[in-house]
Amino acid sequence: MLFKKGAEANLYLETWYGKKIIRKYRYKKAYRIEELDFQLRRSRTFHEAKLLLEARKIGVPTPFIYMIDVKNTSIYMDYIEGNQLKKDMNHLINKNLICEKVGEKIGLLHSNDIIHGDLTTSNIIIAKNGIIYFIDFGLGGFSSSLEDKGVDLHLIKKALESTHYKFADECFDAILTGYKRIVGAEFLQNIKVKITEIESRGRYFQR
Ligand SMILES: Nc1ncnc2c1ncn2[C@@H]1O[C@H](COP(=O)(O)OP(=O)(O)O)[C@@H](O)[C@H]1O
Ligand SMILES: [Mg+2]
Repeated sequence: MLFKKGAEANLYLETWYGKKIIRKYRYKKAYRIEELDFQLRRSRTFHEAKLLLEARKIGVPTPFIYMIDVKNTSIYMDYIEGNQLKKDMNHLINKNLICEKVGEKIGLLHSNDIIHGDLTTSNIIIAKNGIIYFIDFGLGGFSSSLEDKGVDLHLIKKALESTHYKFADECFDAILTGYKRIVGAEFLQNIKVKITEIESRGRYFQR
């Protein structure tokens, strides 16, 4: 059953050996040369699976992967029953606590030099059991640069501002509180300066 359609992949909710699973299938793009298109989809499939596993290894919850079907550019993973943080945010009574936890997880990723690459509230799922899952690592990578980490945080700040403007500031502060717990006060200070720099650059480009 088609569950969600995305810009480069379709998500199918299927049953696999009696379990509910999600198959993320990167589909053909007609405008690309066929051979190149397949290479691209195959490498992104691999890449995303690798990052999902690396994140899980360091204690950031991601869906468990059952199978990677390279030929069919598909990842078979656990179906996380819950809601995108984007959808839940307005109803959460413990927003700050959740945001702090989100910040801790981002801190874990960054202190292990994992960049998410598309850190929005659509790519964070709050499971029914309360566990916070990170998904959609297709644009991610490994990097130790302050710039790349700053861009990750800048992106979630922007996402909060665009969909939850009423408590965006409060939530982002809570995210940084959790983040600091993992990365320490000195790194937090450096990344804050970086985020301000990224923001001022953005304003410059908008003119
Ligand atoms: N393992 C999963 N369990 C539950 N929902 C998922 C899972 N993977 C993806 N989704 C849902 O599908 C949406 C799109 O998946 P995502 O991996 O983010 O692809 P895209 O690159 O198209 O954004 C997510 O925002 C989420 O709502
Ligand atoms: Mg997504």
